[in-house]
Amino acid sequence: MGAGRAVAKQAPLAPTPALPREGREEDQGQELAPLLQVDSVSLEYRTPERVVRATHRVSFDVHAADRFVLLGPSGCGKSTLLKAVAGFIPPVEGEIRLDGQRVTQPGPDRIVVFQEFDQLPPWKTVKQNVMFPLLASRTLGKKEAAERALHYLDKVGLSKFADVHPHQLSGGMKQRVAIARALAMQPRVLLMDEPFAALDALTRRKMQQELLELWDEVRFTLLFVTHSIEEALVVGNRIALLSPHPGRMRAEINSHGFSLESLGGPEFQGTAKRIHDMLFEEEPEVAAAP
Ligand SMILES: Nc1ncnc2c1ncn2[C@@H]1O[C@H](COP(=O)(O)OP(=O)(O)O)[C@@H](O)[C@H]1O
Ligand SMILES: [Mg+2]
Repeated sequence: MGAGRAVAKQAPLAPTPALPREGREEDQGQELAPLLQVDSVSLEYRTPERVVRATHRVSFDVHAADRFVLLGPSGCGKSTLLKAVAGFIPPVEGEIRLDGQRVTQPGPDRIVVFQEFDQLPPWKTVKQNVMFPLLASRTLGKKEAAERALHYLDKVGLSKFADVHPHQLSGGMKQRVAIARALAMQPRVLLMDEPFAALDALTRRKMQQELLELWDEVRFTLLFVTHSIEEALVVGNRIALLSPHPGRMRAEINSHGFSLESLGGPEFQGTAKRIHDMLFEEEPEVAAAP
């Protein structure tokens, strides 16, 4: 299992039927168009002095209820890719499509959870933090937003902390609030950029477990960025391996057979080693000019 395979070919384009937000079946049907298509996407930063190419013609498809992981070394363009999917950075080449529609700007259908603990405004209570995007986007009125906030705070185990302020919470709890806030928006895709990287090892493990439990319950679609091979294998059902700067697709790995229980087992370690070798082997072709 876990055999690396070539990057998936573009599936024919067709509108994805509306899926119920919760309790939907994991749908790996090949006939359905992918929920999210990243199609030969190159991303660049332009400064007056130079152009930095962050990713080079990256392609992958994310299907509904996937836990799709972007894995690669620091600086390979993972965050940039996530920001492009979120609609903050336009591709210089290629196209990003959600439900077959080209992504051109940020929207409530794509919500990002970041690594930083300071993503929660400190003057709002936990509940107000979770309600805020629902109100700001006029998704819900005040009463419904409060109900929805409490529903998702309950899902991350923080009902009792609804009325405290973020500074009274641990790092892990703040990340749970950020996850509840994102899920409360019921996005088409939940985007997470190394959300557990700043946590201690034990808390990180616990958060991975909770995220998987939450996914079991809610079946959201996840695009998750990490530079940790182990975390990628635990969290993801599919993993895109990106080469060092500028990021290119190295391989796509099917990792749905791995979980926290398989951590440290021979198969897990063998796959981790194989991924490590693939990530850091020499570029088969000449890299783009710096
Ligand atoms: N605002 C920026 N201006 C110029 N270059 C940037 C900027 N942000 C990131 N980069 C460069 O783009 C490349 C990819 O960065 P990033 O997406 O943050 O990588 P990763 O998240 O994989 O660590 C890196 O070489 C980085 O230095
Ligand atoms: Mg990053």
